Amino acid sequence: MSTLTYDRFRTDLEAYFDRTASKAWEQLTSDAPVSGVRAKVRAGRTEMRDTLLSWMPADMTGLRMLDAGCGTGALAVEAAQRGAEVVAIDVAGSLVEIARKRAPAGLNIDWRVGDMLDPALGRFDHVVAMDSLIHYPAFDIVDVIRALADRTAGSIAFTFTPQTPMLSAMLGIGRLFPRGDRSPAIIPVREPLLRTLIRHALPKARLGRDRRISASFYTSHALEILP
Ligand SMILES: C[S@@+](CC[C@H](N)C(=O)[O-])C[C@H]1O[C@@H](n2cnc3c(N)ncnc32)[C@H](O)[C@@H]1O
Repeated sequence: MSTLTYDRFRTDLEAYFDRTASKAWEQLTSDAPVSGVRAKVRAGRTEMRDTLLSWMPADMTGLRMLDAGCGTGALAVEAAQRGAEVVAIDVAGSLVEIARKRAPAGLNIDWRVGDMLDPALGRFDHVVAMDSLIHYPAFDIVDVIRALADRTAGSIAFTFTPQTPMLSAMLGIGRLFPRGDRSPAIIPVREPLLRTLIRHALPKARLGRDRRISASFYTSHALEILP
């Protein structure tokens, strides 16, 4: 899949996560002490990761899972520790390098640098995209889900940033900062619109569990698709 916006956003995200934010992301996803807001974000993200993992079988032996936009790899490691054969991919090579170094030895994880939609990755039982689609517009998110659904037998779990008045205000404040100081824009999505678009794009799929986590500056909503 290739659309003008998808390609442009992916290129921006690669530059941001690979260089500008690599150190900060390494720290946020480590056990190193962090200050108040970051600690809350970290706690919210841990809760989200636990939620997404809880939607897959406890014993993943014999199952193939894609961690789409794996970052520093925490979710991939936990799935592999449950027995899954994991493909973990991210456009940001520096984050994949951190993930590779952090992962305990002996796990079945194929670390890759590249686009989560690369057809060469093959077919999967489960796909998880935690906070990796939050920088894409709704139409691209749906196109990504549709492309992944064609290669997934079990479930796709992904997160989006729900459009809420509080979040719009916070993002509005963020836009007052000079461009260079900002991370790539998070694009909030209206949940009813996203559900409608997914139903149209994937008429045979079932929308499964969902969960919203709001922890201070971290707001993310997980949705499960059963293709
Ligand atoms: C906010 S981080 C989340 C990382 C990880 N899933 C986690 O929760 O810790 C988003 C990640 O998605 C990656 N990403 C965004 N678009 C991608 C794409 N099209 N293919 C692969 N990785 C992508 C970014 O490089 C970034 O590392």
